Amino acid sequence: MPLAPRTDFPLLSSSTVRGHQLAYLDSAATSQKPQVVLDAINDYYSTSNANVHRGAHFLGDKSTQAWHQARQTIAQFLGATPQELVITRNTTEALNLAARAVASSIQPGDRIITTLLEHHSNFVPWQRLARERQAELVVVKVDKQGQLDWDQLNEVLASSTPVRVVALSHISNTLGSVFPLSQVVEAVRHHHKNAVIVVDGAQAAVHMDVKFDQLGVDAYALSAHKMLGPMGIGALLVRRSLLETWEPVLVGGGMIDEVTLEKTTYATNLEERFTAGTPDVASLVGWAAACEYLDQWSWSQHLAHDRELVDRTLEIAKKFPELEIIGPTDPDLPRIGSVAFVHPKIHAHDIGQVLDSVGVAVRSGHHCTMPLHNEFGWPASVRASFQCYTDLSELDALAEGLRKVAAVFGNL
Ligand SMILES: Cc1ncc(COP(=O)(O)O)c(C=O)c1O
Repeated sequence: MPLAPRTDFPLLSSSTVRGHQLAYLDSAATSQKPQVVLDAINDYYSTSNANVHRGAHFLGDKSTQAWHQARQTIAQFLGATPQELVITRNTTEALNLAARAVASSIQPGDRIITTLLEHHSNFVPWQRLARERQAELVVVKVDKQGQLDWDQLNEVLASSTPVRVVALSHISNTLGSVFPLSQVVEAVRHHHKNAVIVVDGAQAAVHMDVKFDQLGVDAYALSAHKMLGPMGIGALLVRRSLLETWEPVLVGGGMIDEVTLEKTTYATNLEERFTAGTPDVASLVGWAAACEYLDQWSWSQHLAHDRELVDRTLEIAKKFPELEIIGPTDPDLPRIGSVAFVHPKIHAHDIGQVLDSVGVAVRSGHHCTMPLHNEFGWPASVRASFQCYTDLSELDALAEGLRKVAAVFGNL
């Protein structure tokens, strides 16, 4: 049984692919949306559409109220305050914003630490920043189970060279592994109290209880579309005392205090200072509806459902002896949200194509983690990923599809 009723998701309950019931196992790329999210967006445009903060009229007030209410709901869901919520288009933009905001604090020779398994969105901005500021980008290795090389990390942290930024993901989108954030935070703070710790939470925010105020990190990036919300909206949560020191990257309408020909002063209210231009209120409202929808179940229910899907997929993959499962297989290591595998002779795209022919949607490719794939010599991998609406019957379809792959290409 899925955790969330399939009938709540119009696309899932109605779609067939080439005569087969759709098995949607690509939720790590983007999640499907429940009707309540679609309704919230539609209702906003049907009943409340007006620009925020600008017009002193009834609809303007209604829209502004919807904007504030949605910010409040999303911030609370994530254990942050609305003042700490900087709205972006997605995780990628949030991480670029973080990199731009800290740029001026980086001196030649300083260190920026990231890891080998990062999504390109949490790698390229730091790589570019390091080049621009003549800083050193240190990439901490991980093993095939996604576990950090603590010897390397500790060695880098213990050196006297200043570490300005530590950027790492919460859950790996390729391996499904989970970084122990509290241990990382403790190690970083022990040596470099003022390093800015930035977390890519794109895969975590929908699977686990992310409470920003309890993580001890400085910034946390996420996308609404991976957590049942709409595309085109996301956020960077930033610790308030840090955000107060950041220069806004976008400047213009809506974020100012006073503009004269000589100079501009910015709004002191952080919610305004970091909202330049007309915000996407409808998407924000849709995202808030998604948070409320997810909140129907406890996080232990979400995790237990995910664990069942992960275990079943591991079982299925193990039946095909030549498939190499990548990411944690040791039952003591957490694996959340996905299972990926590679085959020594059959390219991931070929596997994906055969699966698609029987209605099974998986992701094949490098999943925007080329450095990780290159390190272990995987040209590409196949990833099945899950959500609260994923049903065990979809995994039966995956098993059936893999048997078809075996029949087409010879033994798997
Ligand atoms: C771990 C991780 N980080 C960043 C991103 C980028 O997210 P977006 O495309 O929404 O910016 C993704 C998307 O797959 C991801 O899985």
